[in-house]
Amino acid sequence: MPSTATKPYPPKVEQEHWFFGSAYYLSKDRMSFLRDHCTKHDINWVTSRFLNIAVTNYPAYIQHVLVDNNKNYRKSFGYDKIKHLLGNGLITSDGAFWQRQRRLAQPAFHKKRLQVLTSVMAKHAERMAEKWHSYAKNKETVDISHDMMEIALEIVGEALFSSDVTDKVPIVDRNLTVANELAMQRVLNPFALPLWVPTPANIKEKKAIENLDEVVWHIIGKRRHTTEHYDDLLSMLMEARDEDSGESMTDQQLRDEVMNLFLAGHETSANALSWFWYLLTQYPEEEQKLRDEVNGVLAGRTPTFDDLPNMPYTKMAIREAMRLYPPAWFIGRQSIEEDEIGGYYIPPNTNVLISTFFTHRDSRWWDDPLTFDPERFTEANMKMRPKFAYLPFGGGPRQCIGNNFAMMEMQIIVPTLLQQFQLSLSDTAKIESDPLITLRPKHGMPIRVKHVHD
Ligand code: HEM
Repeated sequence: MPSTATKPYPPKVEQEHWFFGSAYYLSKDRMSFLRDHCTKHDINWVTSRFLNIAVTNYPAYIQHVLVDNNKNYRKSFGYDKIKHLLGNGLITSDGAFWQRQRRLAQPAFHKKRLQVLTSVMAKHAERMAEKWHSYAKNKETVDISHDMMEIALEIVGEALFSSDVTDKVPIVDRNLTVANELAMQRVLNPFALPLWVPTPANIKEKKAIENLDEVVWHIIGKRRHTTEHYDDLLSMLMEARDEDSGESMTDQQLRDEVMNLFLAGHETSANALSWFWYLLTQYPEEEQKLRDEVNGVLAGRTPTFDDLPNMPYTKMAIREAMRLYPPAWFIGRQSIEEDEIGGYYIPPNTNVLISTFFTHRDSRWWDDPLTFDPERFTEANMKMRPKFAYLPFGGGPRQCIGNNFAMMEMQIIVPTLLQQFQLSLSDTAKIESDPLITLRPKHGMPIRVKHVHD
């Protein structure tokens, strides 16, 4: 134990099940448990016979794990449990393999490339506007969370893989929901049986993964059989050669990377947008400010890359929505060797759970934390908070590779739709978050869509 570790170890925990320890309460109702028991100290322990978890929402400790001492932390046990779906891709892999894959994919996200992709994003935003015109004409109330999945998936399909995936949207939406729910159950259940055991849940999960696999193999297969040249992320991955062996990626590696980017590249942005629209329906003053900015800059035009710096309030509002509803609501790591964080002893193989959701609602950094207030993200206000009080895209070397892509896409979609439509929440809407692998609206997002001048 390092001599700098001054806090008692093993730690005292407040609420313990006689057999399963405090992890029992975490798996029963994770959000209430984390809120009531894991925000009292800067490191809070969840213990059981099977694993120990140090939960932190303290910015300096988050920085320690993700940045300062990141070499001592690999991805946590939770990521192993989603390997059925994601394989060994950018999100789940570690070490030298991850580093090589990250280096290969990184150029696809350089600013110059993203600049070109704004027109793809705008095209799909306009297509969604057409769909919303028909809702408005028919005075329909719709669950826009599906629309946000659709637009985000179409953008990722075309921008990264030059593929039109419009007809695949319902398959991906349905099967990813199943996979997301069952993966979370697997993460929480230490007795979850391996996928090859034919329990009803496993059969369902396997089928969902097979259906998603089919979509990914279709994208790869089509590319293998074309003579056309494409300048996109898929080509980069397919043409990449190992520096030492000269070998290309195996089919399985390619499948894993495409699956990682395809899923990570749309699900999170879609959830961020659904929560964003919801918040806007609840805060009319902020909505009006946003409208004034967007109308003033665009006057009815579709936004371009050059317009983005001129709409700072839009960016601030998107950031604020991700503060209250961070799509990646937790980040997990596991210590390799022993460590010490803020006087706490961290033994090897300890899981560290960074609860982004609660960090973003901590009243030490956020006044009136439950209120939606984009002004928190002015340059001056941002400087007043510790860096890791806000981390929707994570941080350090494993920071989201698609962070700029996602911000740009949201900054294009929001003004395009906002210029044309007025949204209100359905009177019967039940809004509740579902903390799966990502933070989804549990009962969807039923919204009435009207034309702005109706
Ligand atoms: C609002 C949208 C998004 C949010 C909130 C988000 C959030 C995150 C977070 C928190 C991580 C870090 C996870 C960790 O440290 O364990 C991450 C990683 C990742 N994200 Fe995103 N993401 C978003 C959009 C995207 C997009 C658009 C793409 C791709 C087009 C993408 C691809 C990835 C990949 C591949 C990783 C793994 C990176 C690595 O470990 O090298 N994400 N994302």
